[in-house]
Order: sequence, then C-alpha cells, then structure tokens
Amino acid sequence: EKGGFDHFMLKEIYEQPRAILDTYRGRLLAKEGIIKMAGIDDNLEKFLNANRIIIVACGTSWHAGLVAEYIFEDLARIPVEVEYASEFRYRNPVITDKDVLIAISQSGETADTLAAIKLAKEKGAFVFGVCNVVGSSIARETDAGAYTHAGPEIGVASTKAFTTQITVLTLLALKLAKEKGIFNKTRFHEHLSELENIPSKVEKALLSNPLVEIISNVYKDSTNCLYLGRGYNFPVALEGALKLKEISYIHAEGYPAAEMKHGPIALIDEHMPVVVIATNKGHYEKVVSNIQEIKSRKGKIIAVVTEGDVQVKELADHVIEIPETLESLTPLLTTIPLQLLSYHIAVMRGCNVDQPRNLAKSVTVE
Ligand code: F6R
Repeated sequence: EKGGFDHFMLKEIYEQPRAILDTYRGRLLAKEGIIKMAGIDDNLEKFLNANRIIIVACGTSWHAGLVAEYIFEDLARIPVEVEYASEFRYRNPVITDKDVLIAISQSGETADTLAAIKLAKEKGAFVFGVCNVVGSSIARETDAGAYTHAGPEIGVASTKAFTTQITVLTLLALKLAKEKGIFNKTRFHEHLSELENIPSKVEKALLSNPLVEIISNVYKDSTNCLYLGRGYNFPVALEGALKLKEISYIHAEGYPAAEMKHGPIALIDEHMPVVVIATNKGHYEKVVSNIQEIKSRKGKIIAVVTEGDVQVKELADHVIEIPETLESLTPLLTTIPLQLLSYHIAVMRGCNVDQPRNLAKSVTVE
C-alpha cells in the first residue's frame, strides 16, 4: 500500500509530479491556448465582477492560499485577502455580494472552514471550493468549485495536497488574467506551457533527495530552525516550518526574509540552522544580503537555489538546486526539498512521520 516507500508521506511527496499532472489534465489545453474548468466557466462573471477575493483555509491549505494571493494579485490584478477560517468566522467580517470567497481544504471537512463558508453564503458572497476529497462537506456546501486530483492523502502532514491546490489556483488566476485582457496570447501561452513542464521539473527537484538526507543528518539534533523566503516564496517558508514542527517536533518559524531584522535575527548564532529560499527571480539580491547578515552572525545556511546559481553557493553551508521556472511557479518546486528535509529529520529522530502526536488528518471540531 505504501508502494515500496517506508512511509505514506514519502510516497505522497514522490507522487507530486503525477498529482500535479492529474490536476491540470483536461483543464490546461496548451495547444488550443485555453483553460477549461466547468466551475469557473459557468461562473466567470462572478469572478470578473468581484471586488475582491477572500480566501479562507487552515494550516497548509492556508499557506496555499497565501501563495494564491501573490498569484492572483500579480497575474490577474484582483485584490485578495487570505484569512484563517477560525479568525474570519468570529470576527464579524465585512462581506458583500460583490465578494468571491474561495475555501481551500484537502479533506473538505475542516470545521472552521465549513463555518466560514456558511457565513459568507449568508452574506451573499459567491463561494468557490478547492477540495481534494470528492463529495466532502465543503465540496457540497460551496456554490461551485474545482477539485485537486491529488488522490488520497494518508500522511497527516500535507504534501501533494499543497502543490495541487497551488496548481488549481494558478489555473484559475491564469484564466482570469486572460479573460481580463491582462495576458496577451503570447504571455498566456508561455505560462501554460511552463505549467505543463512543472511535473518533470518536480521530478528533477526530487533528485535532491540523497543530498537533503545528508543535510538532514547534520541538523537532526537542532532544537530550533528558521525558514526565510520573500515574495512568492514567503508562504513556502511558512509551510517548510510547519512541516518540520509537526512531524519532527523541532521548533521552527517561517518569516519573510526582510522581517528578520525586526526580531528573529536576535536568535541567530552558530547553533541556528536557517533555511533560505533564494531562487533567481524576484528579490534575489535582497535575499543574498539577508544571507550575508545571517552568515556574519555565524548562522548555518541551507539554501534552496536555482540551478546554476553562483552567488549563494559562495555563502551558504549547503545548497539545494531546483530547476529554473517562471517566478509564479517557483513555490511548486521550492516546496519539494523542504518536504524532504522535514521527512528525513523526523525519520532520523525516530518520530512517527505519518501520524504525528496530537494531530488528526481532518479537523472536524473547532
Ligand atoms: C499540515 C496539515 C494541516 C491541514 C489543516 C487543514 O500538514 O495537514 O495543517 O492543512 O488541518 O486541513 P484541510 O486542508 O483538510 O482543510
């Protein structure tokens, strides 16, 4: 049942090329230059007329929502707010019938997300679901939606659900960018064909596994770990930290790299591993100077870089390469080594990777 892997989590990490492909299959028609998704096609006006998009979710799905915020604002120029479902529902939020609410949930059963949906519907918002489990409560409660086709996710730590959620949300943003006339044919086509290349690039990113295992062995006894990223990769830093803490029980924090100097930099010494996402697009030079600041305080740097990188290689203690891609698609690749890092560290510490203590796969109570 684990397909030759020691744990479901590792199996599911390795399933990502297929899961991403299954998620865009039949929807992304690169040759024809179209994106076909019934849940969107049937409700296009709702999206195009929306004043803003509100995304609600919890945990890893909330991190996918944060990535989507960058994607929607950057590509489709639609204002986005991303909310923890648990906070949103109790805040007396301002919601109108000009809002579109997107709920993201792997299980489709998360109690707080479901409650946020009900509240938004009462206020007249159009509610769109991004779920993995077919026929789940959230899938049924939403006005329309698009499934992620990740297949069953058994490991409690979410992996392929995250990357397939980002895939669906990217398709949605690209479609809206095209419909709004923001993307011309050429730019649209460039994004479609690059998204089509992502599964094979995820395969390449997975080749870092033996190296990540070696790095994991160096840091497995750490008591703390910091994750830094900027722009599209800031949410990936949060997700990397969540993965590490939930399965290895090492305290980890994710931060936007530039926020480091506003507090967390005080934590840095020779015992602090810092995972930095430093891909070559968007703010690369700024991340390089963040890395220099960490080095000068003797922090240990594990950097995720674009293949062929030179600058970060000179500064970092360890460098993990991922293939080059469009900036908006980098989270689908940078996430991979971080999943592997948390996996190996947890295994080395003797943790129950697939069923970490105190956690449940679906959180049906608030
Ligand atoms: C983290 C994790 C949780 C879930 C969260 C939301 O690895 O699994 O943080 O992401 O409980 O669950 P869903 O997506 O089912 O609503």
